[in-house]
Amino acid sequence: TKLYCVPNLKYLPLDPKWEFPRERLNIEKVLGEGEFGQVLQASAIDLPGVPGRTTVAVKALKAGAGNTELNDLLTEYELLKEVSHPNIIRLLGACTCSDGQIFIIIEYADKGSLRGYLRGCRRGGRQALERERLSLKTLISYAWQISKGMEYLSEMKMVHRDLAARNILLTSKGVCKVSDFGLSRDVYEDDTYLKQSRGKVPVKWMALESLSDQVYTSKSDVWSYGVLIWELLTLGLAPYPGIAIQNLYDLLLSGYRMENPVPNSQCKLYHLMQACWATYPTDRPSFMQITSTLNRILQEGS
Ligand code: ADE
Repeated sequence: TKLYCVPNLKYLPLDPKWEFPRERLNIEKVLGEGEFGQVLQASAIDLPGVPGRTTVAVKALKAGAGNTELNDLLTEYELLKEVSHPNIIRLLGACTCSDGQIFIIIEYADKGSLRGYLRGCRRGGRQALERERLSLKTLISYAWQISKGMEYLSEMKMVHRDLAARNILLTSKGVCKVSDFGLSRDVYEDDTYLKQSRGKVPVKWMALESLSDQVYTSKSDVWSYGVLIWELLTLGLAPYPGIAIQNLYDLLLSGYRMENPVPNSQCKLYHLMQACWATYPTDRPSFMQITSTLNRILQEGS
């Protein structure tokens, strides 16, 4: 096998199945940026099976990124190769051979992150003309789609570890796509992943056992999913408003949970959220159970 060199890392096998020529990828602008990573908008010419120009999103590292970030990007690449589901962001290719810069090409989602979209729909969030009205039914359908994507991931024995509205992408057709696999890991033998120490952690989305013992399972993804429903119903508020992250663990341990963000209504959705936040992982529903609960809520139209 042909090998290519990743700076500061081992040699990796070239994957011709996914390799895309750098000359046919034109970077256009920055869509989003983190400390060490960025997402770019680009045009890809003649993607396999797609003649002509296609707008795509490209994940890349910024100068200053270290091995951890490189590892996360390559992990994401490997995991995306394995998955295929309408509610999971699709891998289109990668440029790994050109001048040390690695580009992971994924499908472009016109409406960007769900969190940004929800916030744009708030009053005063955007120009009144541009603002789209979101019905409760639409919000529940988003929740349903995300659960379908997560059901698929959990069947694939993959744990996401960073499920949150900021990591869901939305297309113009109203399709939700789970993305940002950077933190996810395949689960081996048992379904527990013990994390190594790492930098930033999404404390307000994390399950009790993840906070205390760094244990990540599909059931800790379910906890995060409960927080995501709360984000949906509040059109993208930051969870646990007014609570400092240093105090969160003790509060949760003593039984504290967020209140119903829409008091006196949506009791069924609130019950679902609470079930996702059960102290013991085994008491939480599976994504398959969540999907069928949401089916029932959508049918009853309540
Ligand atoms: N922002 C981050 N990833 C994106 C994508 N795939 N499409 C559109 N905007 C994005």
